Amino acid sequence: MSNAIKNDLFEKVNLGSIELANRIAMAPLTRSRAGSDGVPTDLHAIYYAQRASAGLIISETTNISPQARGYAFTPGIWTEEQVEGWKKVTDAVHEKNGKIVCQLWHVGRFSHTSLLPDGNAPVSSSAVKAEGKTFTENGFKDVSEPRALELEEIPALLEEYRHAAESAKKAGFDGVEGHSANSYLLHQFIRDSVNQRTDKYGGSVENRTRLLLEVVEAIVKVWGDSGRVGIRLSPTTPDAGNTPIDSDVMGTFTYLIDKLNEYNLAYIHFVEGSTAASRELPEGIDLYQ
Ligand SMILES: Cc1cc2nc3c(=O)[nH]c(=O)nc-3n(C[C@H](O)[C@H](O)[C@H](O)COP(=O)(O)O)c2cc1C
Repeated sequence: MSNAIKNDLFEKVNLGSIELANRIAMAPLTRSRAGSDGVPTDLHAIYYAQRASAGLIISETTNISPQARGYAFTPGIWTEEQVEGWKKVTDAVHEKNGKIVCQLWHVGRFSHTSLLPDGNAPVSSSAVKAEGKTFTENGFKDVSEPRALELEEIPALLEEYRHAAESAKKAGFDGVEGHSANSYLLHQFIRDSVNQRTDKYGGSVENRTRLLLEVVEAIVKVWGDSGRVGIRLSPTTPDAGNTPIDSDVMGTFTYLIDKLNEYNLAYIHFVEGSTAASRELPEGIDLYQ
């Protein structure tokens, strides 16, 4: 007699254009095990190969450029050496029949000058300082005062995302996930609590979501297949210390998700509540008001 219970979790599935051996995904987890050069090592290949029986691995979040860094020893995906390091990882995962996408990261204001080229200030949508400490090569330090990105700098930022997406493709990833969650740069543009711009990237929801949608456009173009692109969002993650979440979470994210839906992406990946904290909404927030 056949077993009537169907165990779907262990059956293969297509996630957009990515064929997964099962329906179990490993969340992106920062390990801080790269060198100062952001090059993944043999240890990365061993670590990810050990976890390749998950249908999908989302890589630890990976800096798109030197200015994107906010934590010491996190890997990057903009130099040839980094691409070679990641190639060892993707080969090791594929050998075990796993799939892996690269999470593309820019921390925005959540950084320290010691981690940035020439001791630069962190950049964000506006010069609104975050609260909190980040992990530098000399231990935990308060995050530094950020400056607002100039309008003229946005094309170069988009080019950094494009180049990183292209590098991820070269490194043999099965796709990429844009990190637009957890109060990092793309989220700092979306949230009206941080974004105080008066140009076409600030103010209305159309303007605040513009950067993310332009990033999606750039990444999809590089991959030539939106079914290999995902986006991570965390609508209700409390902000980094001093700023509230968006004043209209449902309005902002309903608009954004409708827009993202037009791209036929592989997936949208949500954080439920706040990472390493409560699943509940911060006090005083009523999503359905
Ligand atoms: C040590 C640690 C590192 C993490 N690194 C990342 C990361 O690189 N990128 C990311 O989007 N989320 C990161 N997260 C958040 C996790 O992906 C995940 O959302 C969180 O642990 C909640 O998972 P759960 O909803 O499965 O319980 C990290 C969480 C922890 C605890």
